[in-house]
Amino acid sequence: MTIAWDWRVRLYDFREASCFRRGPAKAALFADMRGKVLFVAAGTGTDFAAFPPGMDITAIDISDEMLRRAAKRARAYNGTLRLLKADALALPFPDSWFDTVVTSCTMCSVPDPVRALRELNRVLCPEGRLLMFEHVRSRQFLLGWTLDLMTLWTRRTGTEMNRDTLANTRAAGFRITDIRSAYLDIILAVRAVKATAYPRRTASTRPAVLQPSTEGMALSVVNRPERHPRSPAAPEPSARV
Ligand SMILES: C[S@@+](CC[C@H](N)C(=O)[O-])C[C@H]1O[C@@H](n2cnc3c(N)ncnc32)[C@H](O)[C@@H]1O
Repeated sequence: MTIAWDWRVRLYDFREASCFRRGPAKAALFADMRGKVLFVAAGTGTDFAAFPPGMDITAIDISDEMLRRAAKRARAYNGTLRLLKADALALPFPDSWFDTVVTSCTMCSVPDPVRALRELNRVLCPEGRLLMFEHVRSRQFLLGWTLDLMTLWTRRTGTEMNRDTLANTRAAGFRITDIRSAYLDIILAVRAVKATAYPRRTASTRPAVLQPSTEGMALSVVNRPERHPRSPAAPEPSARV
């Protein structure tokens, strides 16, 4: 399916990029970002303009072509924004690494949304927040049915229009705290926290330090003592775009 996204990128900004249509609603949700932020999935980076300035953000995507196009927009961001190639189903980060995890039209695109959401749960710290801007199946009969029909076509290129992302989020161990409509009951801004509060990490269980590898945007993980359990080493130029 990565190939499908590499191919769709050609017309993505013109036909699909949701930030051009829903920028203000996204900006209101993204304003709740705090601390170290993971953004899944970057796409062509149109969401970056709606990010609050001065944040420390790691944005991932599985598509090389999406990341290539996102790089220019990442450079224009007024803060720290790293782009990394990574799979949302197997994130290359230690447990409890991020303070905020953000998704944007992501859960319609990953092959196994509950597995991806469990990964987001894993890398989110106990007090962290999940912010999701997602389109979901409508609960209205006719609209829901229309989305089911559309999905017969759209899933061929990677998009499931009719997922129950709220149920998937709960199934992955989150408690939803707020749901706002950006369009009918189809496009939603969702805030959630971890349903289970785990104890803070101690020095003996602190996670590995993330270091960018020398190979482009890939990340490698090494164990190394650090001052703060969730402060990564300063990013090297190869990881910044
Ligand atoms: C509908 S686009 C959303 C992009 C952007 N957030 C936006 O709203 O314009 C979905 C994105 O998810 C990415 N994607 C699909 N499967 C993925 C996975 N398993 N891990 C990471 N990213 C993935 C695709 O490459 C694509 O860029």
